[in-house]
Amino acid sequence: MEYTTLGRTGATVSRIGFGGAALGLTNYLETFDPHDAADRAKLFEGIDAALDGGINYFDTAAAYGKGESERVLGEGLKGVTHSAGVPIVLSTKVHPKQFADNVRASLEGSLERLQRDRVDLLQIHGDTITVADADRFLAPGGMAEQMLELKAEGLVGNIGFSTEDNNDSVYRMIGSGLFDTVQLCYNFLFQHPYETSRPFGSMFEAEAQGMGILTMRAPTSGTFQRWIEMVNPANTFDYTPALIQFVLSNPLVDVALVGMRTAEIVRRNLEIADDLGGRLDIATVQERYV
Ligand SMILES: NC(=O)c1ccc[n+]([C@@H]2O[C@H](COP(=O)([O-])OP(=O)(O)OC[C@H]3O[C@@H](n4cnc5c(N)ncnc54)[C@H](OP(=O)(O)O)[C@@H]3O)[C@@H](O)[C@H]2O)c1
Repeated sequence: MEYTTLGRTGATVSRIGFGGAALGLTNYLETFDPHDAADRAKLFEGIDAALDGGINYFDTAAAYGKGESERVLGEGLKGVTHSAGVPIVLSTKVHPKQFADNVRASLEGSLERLQRDRVDLLQIHGDTITVADADRFLAPGGMAEQMLELKAEGLVGNIGFSTEDNNDSVYRMIGSGLFDTVQLCYNFLFQHPYETSRPFGSMFEAEAQGMGILTMRAPTSGTFQRWIEMVNPANTFDYTPALIQFVLSNPLVDVALVGMRTAEIVRRNLEIADDLGGRLDIATVQERYV
């Protein structure tokens, strides 16, 4: 497993991270029920395979299946402190729709479900971030200030936010200097956070702040694969390794989160992460003039 340092958090992290959304959401991306005993048993095999392979970064959120993803990770990681000798980094999120005024209450629920007395990272669970959202998050008494209090108390190691967007409000959140990490939607289809030809993008902004950079949806949450099926059903080539390698090739990406539910998929992704020869020069991919 390739490891790196998660920006100014100083934590050592595996380049591939265990994305927990799929653990708790019914029928997320494919037919699946986290409450079905057979489906659930596979999740624990997947978590064990990740630990065997040295994946040490685990991402979840209170909102994934009303806490079900956190319950699964809490059980699967019970008593686990290390993965292949490296301390695990467990991160969760607080949703601004329900808990903007009481981040502590959300965290307390998360800690109970995760069976832990602290998490390594607490993030604002974001999609787009509007001007009004950023105003609220950064205002006195807002989510950032509440999260900093929890950090000062040691209930969370670091704080961050996630977003699917790449707009001015995201830049402002990054520029505030309050957050240790950012989790960006970045993959072969959504390349705006890292545009080398101009250059611009939230990833460059975050790097300049010394933040840890996490990405979500490396395999595009199935969008790329569905598009291929629609335009050329005869094409059965498996593009997933190339999609994951694209994100891992980015020198600013610390951890590429990939949703994984079974041991078989985890092992496939471990092979991809270990295939250092499969990394590309992204700037060359984006070149327009030769
Ligand atoms: N706003 C936010 O904060 C936010 C939003 C989205 C995602 N995220 C985070 O990012 C993580 C990743 O995103 P995601 O789960 O939406 O999408 P994703 O990682 O793009 O896709 C996950 C799906 O891809 C499949 N897969 C993974 N590796 C594969 C491989 N080698 N070959 C074939 N199929 C493979 C998995 O299949 P199986 O189900 O069969 O294992 C899973 O269903 C999430 O789990 C979550 O932690 C955060």
